[in-house]
Amino acid sequence: MYMNFWYAAAQSHELVAGTPMHVKMLGQEFVLFRDSAGQAHLLSNVCVHRGASLAHGKVKGDAIECPYHGWQFQGSDGVCTKIPSLGKDGKIPARAKVDSYPVAEKYGLIFAFLGDLPEAERPPLMDIPEWNDPKWRFTTLSYEWRADWQRAMENSLDPAHTEFVHPSMGYQGDRADYEVPELDVEEHAWGVGTMTKFVSPDLPHEKMRGLKGEGQMEAGSTTWGIGQSVTRLHFTPVMWAHQYTYTTPIDEHHIKRWFVQGRNFRIEEHMDAAVNERNLVIVDQDKVVVTRLAPFYTPATSTEEVMVKSDLVIVRFREKLKAFAANGWKIDLDTINATKDKKAYAIPSPARRTNKGWALDPVPTVSVNAVASQAAAE
Ligand code: FES
Ligand SMILES: [Fe+2]
Repeated sequence: MYMNFWYAAAQSHELVAGTPMHVKMLGQEFVLFRDSAGQAHLLSNVCVHRGASLAHGKVKGDAIECPYHGWQFQGSDGVCTKIPSLGKDGKIPARAKVDSYPVAEKYGLIFAFLGDLPEAERPPLMDIPEWNDPKWRFTTLSYEWRADWQRAMENSLDPAHTEFVHPSMGYQGDRADYEVPELDVEEHAWGVGTMTKFVSPDLPHEKMRGLKGEGQMEAGSTTWGIGQSVTRLHFTPVMWAHQYTYTTPIDEHHIKRWFVQGRNFRIEEHMDAAVNERNLVIVDQDKVVVTRLAPFYTPATSTEEVMVKSDLVIVRFREKLKAFAANGWKIDLDTINATKDKKAYAIPSPARRTNKGWALDPVPTVSVNAVASQAAAE
C-alpha cells in the first residue's frame, strides 16, 4: 500500500452533519466529520492523550471531542483546542495535535490526500471530464472485496480476461479467430493503460438489447496513481460508457471501491437501476476470480508467473509502482505488523513537513535502498 495519493473515504451522502464516521484506509484508522459549515474533515483517529477512538466521540462545532476525557481537536488542522481537565486557563501542550488531511469533495465522493506532500507536488485526483456534460448520465456503486488492491487493479488492466470472465462481453474463447490484438500502451505521468478492439455480443440487458448488435467494440482501462482507473467501453463509435473506479485499500486484505459510471446513451433516469444491476453482475464476475488468486498478493517477482504479450499493461503498471516505491511512498507493512498491538502510527500529514513534535510516529515506509536492491536483483 502506498501513501501520498488521493483516496476515496466515503460517499458524500453517507457523511451526515453532527455524526462522526470511522474510516479505515491503508490499514490506518481515521475519523471523518463535517464542521458547522458542512465542510468535511479527515483526522487521524487515535487520540494522542491515551489513544481513544475519536470517531466514537462527538462533533462539537468545528471540532471532534474525544469520548475518553473530552479533549477537542479542530477539523481544519487537528490541533487540540480544549483539555477540560486543565480548567479554563490551562495551557494546551504543543504536542496535543493529530494529523489532519487535505479533503476534496467531488463527484459525490469525499476524497482525502493520505500523505505529507505539499500541494504542488501531489499526484492529482483522477478527473471525470464528462461529469457536468448534460449528454452524460452517472450512477454510483460501491462494494468491498477481500482482495489485494494490486490484484484488483491488475484485473482492470487485463484485456484477456474479458472474453472468459464476462460472458456478456465475449465468447469464452469459442470464436476461432479470437485473439488479443497487439497492445498500444498509453502512458501518462501517473498511470498506464490501453484501448483494445474486440468482438462482443449485443448488450444483454432486455432494456439495452438491440442498441448495439453483435460486432466490434473498443474498450480498455487506464490507471491513475495507485487505486484509480477509468474503463472506457465504446460499444459503437458513438455509444459509450466510462467507468471511473476509485479503489481504497481498507487494509492489506480488503478493498473498498466506488464505481462511478457515466453513459451517453439511454440517459433517462429510469434506466439507472438496470445499469447498476448490470454493473453489479460484471463486478461479481470479476470478484469470483480475483478473490481466489494465489498467492493472495501479486508475487514479488514476475519470474513467479508466466507473462505473455496481452499482459503488457500489467507489466508497465508494476514499473509505475516501483517508481512510486522509489519515492519512499510504499508503506512497510512488515514493520507495522511486527509491532502490532504495541504501537499506533499515523499516515504523516502535510503539516509534519513544517511542524515538529508529534505523539505518533509516521507509518514506516520501505526504504528507497531496499526498493533499489530489489529492482537490481530482478
Ligand atoms: S484519550 Fe482522548 S481525551 Fe483522553
Ligand atoms: Fe473484468
